[in-house]
Amino acid sequence: MFPTHRPRRLRSNDTLRRMVRETVLTPNDLIYPLFAVPGERFAKEVVSMPGVYQLSIDKIVDEAKEVYDLGIPAIILFGIPAEKDVDATQAWHDCGIVQKATEAVKKAVPNLIVINDTCLCEYTSHGHCGYLGQGDLTGRVLNDPTLELLKKVAIAQARAGADIIAPSGMMDGFVGAIREGLDNAGFQDIPIMSYAAKYASAYYGPFRDAAESTPQYGDRRTYQMDPGNSREAIKEVLLDIEEGADMLMVKPALSYMDIIHRVKEVSDVPVAAYNVSGEYAMVKAAALNGWVDEERVVLETLTSFKRAGADMILTYHAKDAARWIG
Ligand code: PBG
Ligand code: ZN
Repeated sequence: MFPTHRPRRLRSNDTLRRMVRETVLTPNDLIYPLFAVPGERFAKEVVSMPGVYQLSIDKIVDEAKEVYDLGIPAIILFGIPAEKDVDATQAWHDCGIVQKATEAVKKAVPNLIVINDTCLCEYTSHGHCGYLGQGDLTGRVLNDPTLELLKKVAIAQARAGADIIAPSGMMDGFVGAIREGLDNAGFQDIPIMSYAAKYASAYYGPFRDAAESTPQYGDRRTYQMDPGNSREAIKEVLLDIEEGADMLMVKPALSYMDIIHRVKEVSDVPVAAYNVSGEYAMVKAAALNGWVDEERVVLETLTSFKRAGADMILTYHAKDAARWIG
């Protein structure tokens, strides 16, 4: 008995495979993260993220041009301020590092979409994503006072020219609070990309080297989600949509493909996946050892995020991937 059905028929040559391919990655799917630091003509490679740099604003502008020329539509900016304090002043100050970087990029490359990460962790002296109160040692973030600070951050970012506000601190009600803040300040047309399902993940380790944002004490488990939960992700997502989120994010991506898939099924807004620093670091380490074929592993991984349901992918591989898929 020979089989009637022979799926292999459609795999017999590359042209045929291209014809029947369901998911195709393009540069339009990608968002490139950049880390802005004070100074000029400054570039320092992040030890745990080969190929990723802390950059002064002039260099961020050069990168922005290159990214746009590669066909990548957007960057997301993180900032490392010269000074940190309990009120995260540099996060909401008009002269904050991300505000200045945003202004410079929008001036040089007006058509590039500039997303601003809206959180406090890079700007607080203790490294937590929210306000703890003066002299706190418990690391317990106060939810509602944090919302007030986040509104101020978002408004300052919008004023600097940010095209999209991306709150990442996992505070209850943060999308609603920021929406209200933006609307009242006249920024009704600025979309919010919510880090809706963000897990308390060990995969953020290298990012915290890059952003110098490791909590000085305590951890983020009272606000970021428990890796064992998936129904809770749906709850978070539905709340964020109700509060006015225009786009949703799942983070990390690789260990959370099931979440990407479920979020896509229950929502009708674009879904982003954040291919985080630790995921990047693992691929880079293996590639630099010659243990895997970097180009093939990266393109397979990014295509898989899209297959799982991601409409866009934040990834440190964005520039390489855009070059490879040309
Ligand atoms: C913090 C923030 C984190 C990342 C982006 N914004 C994680 C964290 O420190 O908890 C992680 C990105 C990455 O690992 O690439 N709000
Ligand atoms: Zn944070």
